[in-house]
Amino acid sequence: MKENIRNKKIWDLPLRLFHISLILLVIGSISSAKMNMLDLHQYFGVALLGLVFFRILWGFFGTYYSRFRSFNLSIVDALSQFSKTNNITSIRTPIGCYSTIIIMMVLLSISVSGLFSSDDILYDAPLSFLTPNLTSDWTYIHNILHYFLYILIGIHVLAILYYQIVKKMKIIERVLDGYSRIEKINIVSINEKPLIGIFLLLILTFSPILILLYFN
Ligand code: HEM
Ligand code: HEM
Repeated sequence: MKENIRNKKIWDLPLRLFHISLILLVIGSISSAKMNMLDLHQYFGVALLGLVFFRILWGFFGTYYSRFRSFNLSIVDALSQFSKTNNITSIRTPIGCYSTIIIMMVLLSISVSGLFSSDDILYDAPLSFLTPNLTSDWTYIHNILHYFLYILIGIHVLAILYYQIVKKMKIIERVLDGYSRIEKINIVSINEKPLIGIFLLLILTFSPILILLYFN
């Protein structure tokens, strides 16, 4: 797709790969846990933890819209986001930014609590030996948090469908190919060099799996 005033690249390739990988790893983590395949579940979980670390690093070293400093966290903008007269001029909407941060924090907490959990029968997570007296607390937190994740994902998908169908913004195409398809907003041009990001994403996602395989 060609770059012009309406159509500028905003999401770099590593960020788009991050999003697809995130969806796959969340589906893998939840379905393996629900099928009681905890040996497999731990690999999905630690890969997801690595992916979250990637996103945190990419928030400092990625291109403009991947960086946390491009996030619009203004409460005034957030309150006006749904009014017809809102004058938000950034591609990053405040509610979108809040939800990104909350989803990442919940995923981080689920993954970390998982590392210390146990099913009390056949499976003890890799770090559960460090806090043996707290294992049931970690497991409780781990089991509760996934309900928050369901709610957040539900809201996320509904919000995306609202922008896509009601506001006709082609936001899904945007996260697939990275192009903005928007006129009225000031857009910063990004100069992406994706290889380092892809390399970082692969290293951080796969090395926790390899470490776990090595110690098992
Ligand atoms: C497991 C399910 C999902 C999770 C955990 C998730 C998480 C996220 C996160 C964290 C972001 C922010 C990206 C960033 O700046 O780092 C995001 C953006 C986005 N997601 Fe998802 N997502 C999920 C499923 C989906 C699905 C199914 C769709 C499509 C229907 C979708 C469409 C989008 C779009 C279009 C954006 C970009 C929003 C924008 O332009 O501001 N997501 N998602
Ligand atoms: C860091 C790696 C992870 C480890 C070692 C781990 C470990 C565990 C363990 C031991 C259980 C069984 C708890 C019980 O029997 O009550 C469990 C359940 C579960 N985990 Fe994880 N987990 C990890 C990451 C994740 C992630 C990232 C997610 C979601 C994205 C997740 C979602 C679930 C779900 C949905 C259950 C089933 C809870 C239920 O049956 O109600 N886990 N996990």
